[in-house]
Amino acid sequence: MPRKILLDCDPGHDDAIAMLLAHGDPDIELVGVTTVMGNQTIEKVTRNALAVARIAGITDVPFARGAHRPLVRAVEVADSIHGESGLDGPVLPEPSIELDERHAVDLIIDTIMASEPGEITLVPTGALTNIALAVRKEPRIVERVREVVLMGGGVHVGNWSATSEFNIVIDPEAAHIVFNEPWPLTMVGLDLTHEALATPEVAERIAAIGTAPARFVGELLEFFRESYKDAQGFEHPPVHDPCAVAFVIDPSVMKVTRVPLDIELTGSLTLGMTVADFRFPAPEDCTTQVATNLDHGRFWDLVVRAIENIGEPDEAPVV
Ligand code: BDR
Ligand code: CA
Repeated sequence: MPRKILLDCDPGHDDAIAMLLAHGDPDIELVGVTTVMGNQTIEKVTRNALAVARIAGITDVPFARGAHRPLVRAVEVADSIHGESGLDGPVLPEPSIELDERHAVDLIIDTIMASEPGEITLVPTGALTNIALAVRKEPRIVERVREVVLMGGGVHVGNWSATSEFNIVIDPEAAHIVFNEPWPLTMVGLDLTHEALATPEVAERIAAIGTAPARFVGELLEFFRESYKDAQGFEHPPVHDPCAVAFVIDPSVMKVTRVPLDIELTGSLTLGMTVADFRFPAPEDCTTQVATNLDHGRFWDLVVRAIENIGEPDEAPVV
């Protein structure tokens, strides 16, 4: 039985690749896509999500727009990494599917509550605003989901401040809510995703597929390479968000360590830090774990296989 996932994202170059991986992998069933402001405004990331759906040939999955700003703080976008559109590089097609009429928070709640307990895995790859709102509106989702596997944070490294990662630090109050609920939560953070580098060999493998979705990914990676070089000094760009999907497909592509995790809300230098308590042993009731040590080859095998599986969708425009 494929694992049912709900992707909550802010496309975003790596979010787009996460969506393709979820759609093209035979062991995953994508049951919903919700958007949250982050890499760009909610209007832009939602439009991007629908454009990616068209490129991937996703026609039968509900897409819903979510939070337009963080719970407490002002909107902060990542245009230095993702550009003005949030998905700069490729030419984006006009969307061919309509948005679901529900708010993302309601789509999340409805999907989880209408499913069997333990059926839905939540995969957030943006700020945790929608998930926090959903859990406050319908607390029963906590015991009903299978698990939360999120891209965000980093226990030894930051990228938006010395200690903090973008998805967490732009809405730390939302992250605090999500990390403090007793659901099984895997943090696929920078400790892991800084190993998911799109090397030239990876780009060549994707180019060799030769389809429109593969060309789209190639153009995304080209833009990502330049922006990560200019903004953060990376030689090859770290492709964060598909790592969370990869963990759901095959947890053995990375190592996980059970450890209590919490979010710093008051530190003047450490706001949004994901604080891990590595003192031994982890308490019995610890439900959080952190990912490290990616199997780079097997991770990219999953991405390449998913793009191959997608093929040339009927809906996809020529790009
Ligand atoms: C995260 O921030 C966003 O810019 C990316 O899409 C990813 O989810 C990495 O810090
Ligand atoms: Ca993202």
